[in-house]
Amino acid sequence: MTECYIKDFPRHVGKEVVIRGWVSNRRSSGKVSFLLIRDGSGLCQAIAEREVLGDAYQEVKKLPLESSLEVQGKVVEESRSPGGYELHVSRVEIIHKPQKEFPIGKKEHGPDFLLNNRHLWLRSSRQITIMRVRDTLVRHIREYFYKNDFTLIDSPIFTTTCGEDTSSLFSVDYFDLGKAFLSQTGQLYLEAAIFGLGKVYCFGPTFRAERSKTRRHLIEFWMVEAEAAFFDQDRNLALQEDFVSYIVQNTIAERAEELASLERDIEPLRKVVPPFYRISYDDALAILRDKGSDIEWGMDLGADDETLITSLYDRPVFIENYPRKVKAFYMKQHPDKPEYVKCADLLAPEGYGEIIGGSERENDHDKLMQAIRENNLDPERYGWYLDLRKYGSVPHSGFGLGVERTLSWICGLKHVRETIPFPRMIYRAYP
Ligand code: 4AD
Ligand code: MG
Repeated sequence: MTECYIKDFPRHVGKEVVIRGWVSNRRSSGKVSFLLIRDGSGLCQAIAEREVLGDAYQEVKKLPLESSLEVQGKVVEESRSPGGYELHVSRVEIIHKPQKEFPIGKKEHGPDFLLNNRHLWLRSSRQITIMRVRDTLVRHIREYFYKNDFTLIDSPIFTTTCGEDTSSLFSVDYFDLGKAFLSQTGQLYLEAAIFGLGKVYCFGPTFRAERSKTRRHLIEFWMVEAEAAFFDQDRNLALQEDFVSYIVQNTIAERAEELASLERDIEPLRKVVPPFYRISYDDALAILRDKGSDIEWGMDLGADDETLITSLYDRPVFIENYPRKVKAFYMKQHPDKPEYVKCADLLAPEGYGEIIGGSERENDHDKLMQAIRENNLDPERYGWYLDLRKYGSVPHSGFGLGVERTLSWICGLKHVRETIPFPRMIYRAYP
């Protein structure tokens, strides 16, 4: 007897097979039951008849949702069935029958209920679909860097340097060495790696103790970061355009069916090709103030500001050259405008906002030391980082892209919480 996965049904038409999975839905009458079976690879309708199953039918016709089963039957082509095939059942073996009714049903549940039951919610078709798109997106991200000669550098999660904003650090006790922090970024370590490998990237979980309860903030999220020696900010932006276009176009091509099932209109995503729009921070500020925002020079753009800006553009837009004082210490001071840095945030269209933060890095030892002091960071902890500016320092640049925000944009979701298997938010670390 051939054991197979539902996705392989096309290869087994007319043959008896065995599948194993769960009852996702069921309709039964006295004579026939239609079981919708989910096996991790797909869904199929299994038709179980009393005439074929005999006494066993009594139990099959009452099977609770999420019962786990082994089902034997013949694969038959049927265009009206989900997936285009159905299984004419000859044998059913119950592996486990739920003791209680499955808590997630067809009725509407609130987000809190669903998040409390995230471990069960992950079985819902919408969640399965989002996880599949995530898997595809991540694969294309890695493939892009592989094809473009970037080497993977796994950066540490325990660190003793702060990469971004000291107010969002998580600290942990680190034996006799005192406090260590959970990584906010792998960037500083990537900068060390470019001296040996030229073009590198890291991809891992990132931690930010941000007290933001917005639809785009997680406490733990996945960031992919790239860093390249001898890249100035212009090359950095060209790399980002090429990268974002690649991952978006490949993901929507491969997952068109899934995105349609999420009711995501992919036409706007098809437009995500270079060149992206570029405006300066100062121009963005003028636009925002003209539209009634009370943002002032030296403030970071808020979520509403970003939404407003993106509504004006049909492709992603870079906001370039922020004031030095709102951005991280490592960004390169603008040679002509010392109050600014050579950086850009990339905003995704349709109101999604920032998905990338990036910059050229300060490669001058003394300027970097000054920035470390101005940001009230302890130069002792940055000894190794400053060393990189002592031995063959070169111009270099990089960026970091948030996977959950990018996925929520691609899938057209309102909130990032559905884009990660087990979201961590201020008020949620369970399940
Ligand atoms: O702009 P950020 O803070 O940049 C860095 O960490 C740089 N070190 C990256 C680099 O140049 N190597 O974060 C980068 C991206 C943001 O644009 C956003 O997409 C995502 O990470 N991000 C978050 N995503 C979800 N929840 C949060 N709390 C996030 N904070 C940042
Ligand atoms: Mg940022």
